Amino acid sequence: MPQLSTGIRIPDLAKYKAEGRKITMLTAYDASMAKLLDEAGIDVLLVGDSLGMVIMGHDTTIPVTLEAILHHSRAVAKGATRAVIVADMPFLTYQVSAEEALRNAGRLIQEGGAAAVKIEGGIAAVPAVQRLVAAGIPVMGHVGLTPQFVHGLGGFRAVGKTEDEAQALMRDARALEEAGAFSLVLECIPSRVAEAITRELRIPTIGIGSGPACDGQVLVSYDALGLYPGFTPKFVKRYAELGVELTRAARGYAADVRAGRFPGKTAPAMPELVATVSGMRELTAKARREGRSVGLVPTMGALHEGHGALMDRARGETDFLVVSIFVNPTQFDRQDDYRAYTINLDADIEMCRRHGVDAVFAPSAAEMYKPGARTYVEAPGVSDLLCGQFRPGHFRGVATVVAKLLNIAAPDRAYFGEKDAQQLAVIEQMVSDLNFPVKVVPVATVREADGLALSSRNRRLSTEERRIAPVLYRSLEAGRERIAGGETRAAKVKEAVLRQLAEAPAVRVEYIEVVDAAMQPVAEITGAVRIAAAVWLGSTRLIDNVPCEPALAALAGSASQPHRMRE
Ligand code: PAJ
Repeated sequence: MPQLSTGIRIPDLAKYKAEGRKITMLTAYDASMAKLLDEAGIDVLLVGDSLGMVIMGHDTTIPVTLEAILHHSRAVAKGATRAVIVADMPFLTYQVSAEEALRNAGRLIQEGGAAAVKIEGGIAAVPAVQRLVAAGIPVMGHVGLTPQFVHGLGGFRAVGKTEDEAQALMRDARALEEAGAFSLVLECIPSRVAEAITRELRIPTIGIGSGPACDGQVLVSYDALGLYPGFTPKFVKRYAELGVELTRAARGYAADVRAGRFPGKTAPAMPELVATVSGMRELTAKARREGRSVGLVPTMGALHEGHGALMDRARGETDFLVVSIFVNPTQFDRQDDYRAYTINLDADIEMCRRHGVDAVFAPSAAEMYKPGARTYVEAPGVSDLLCGQFRPGHFRGVATVVAKLLNIAAPDRAYFGEKDAQQLAVIEQMVSDLNFPVKVVPVATVREADGLALSSRNRRLSTEERRIAPVLYRSLEAGRERIAGGETRAAKVKEAVLRQLAEAPAVRVEYIEVVDAAMQPVAEITGAVRIAAAVWLGSTRLIDNVPCEPALAALAGSASQPHRMRE
């Protein structure tokens, strides 16, 4: 419970400053996470009142009680053996009187297993700090954006931008050091002010959104690990996307349960890995001889749950499921895009295993394209506009490789995502024109909770770009709403999409089109259409589309009934 002798001790942290070693601090709220962070070598675990937001779902830290911090502090103390545990003193547990502050802090140490407490506020907090320190309780100060004072500050905002505020911060910092605080958190203050305070004080400063000069840094672990679906401040670097991973795992579990794969006698077996064209032909020929239907999901790897949805659909409809993983060089119009398209075959095969795939076809480029290969498949018209206009040769590469994959695996059914609606249309055209004996099955777009369509390219987005990216879907939705509301002029719909996109100046629009099922632009919306768009965010190109039905009112008087566009 209290700090073990093998762990870091509070006086050690002062030595860090003298030795120029940075202090690492993260928030922790439960034993399991505390154990993991402790094992990662984090120096200080803060049982933060940020639990009000990330654990309890409030908008501020103000509703957090002493009992709540105690509850979580006990858990963190159970999980960590090495890190120093600091417990936040919640709102109104130290302001009423120094005596009450001592009683409450004492409980956090005695019952909560913390080694120290943290108190927000500058000079006003000095009497409480002095009282605790005199009683032998180490105190960490906290100035700048002090979330418990959010109402007084007039919102969550940076502090110390004016000369007066900067001087007040310096006075607060000195007073807290004088009162005996062993370290000081500086939250959301300008780097130069944080640097001046760090230079001035003997005790270490720990920054959050206050620049790199502080003696240490702290982050809310849920922000840094991508576990908090709410607002993530700009200064937070996301070191993982555990939220996405968690949703993916839960979806996988749900898919297993719904498909009757869980609970099962054994975990799904590893798919068979095939690298040669002849090996693939033999495998599916054998399955067909045994009377089993064959499903094919063509991919370029870097698999995500968009691909997973195609696999689940195929698993439910066919007996022998093949996923092809081939980064097809002939469909890349830019070399830098091709080079950036890195995949992890082991991770992809593991994902295929979880989705009950029987065989993974992962040929080399040399296996797929023999020297002297010169035959290509082209589907003009449907390939000409939208992406075809901006990615010369792209659909020729796609149609050719898909034709080859269909010939090699000879599936009964092949699955494609509506996320790439034009690609799907090109493939449908080719399959129909060239009489491929396969049924093309479209699968609806899988999206993140914020609307962003899953894509292998999303992982190239910076934190800031990832924050902005959902604007693409929101804009398409704005267009869809216009159509649902009765707008029949495509130009007006495009305007609505553009207006919404303009809210994010970082987004560069490549195209916005309202197209029919043959991917031809329409001026007047009389039937089912798609609004399709491509945009650039930095060096990443994102595409998306939404299917739209015209409003019934707008069609009154129109003789033809709209045919439904697939969702
Ligand atoms: P890739 O981008 O890996 O996508 C493989 C398949 O997954 C495509 O059919 C695509 O539409 C689908 N897909 C991707 N993201 C999706 C999402 N968020 N929701 C639903 N489906 C999604 O598309 C290709 O590879 C290649 O062009 C390929 C067809 C394999 C030819 O090389």
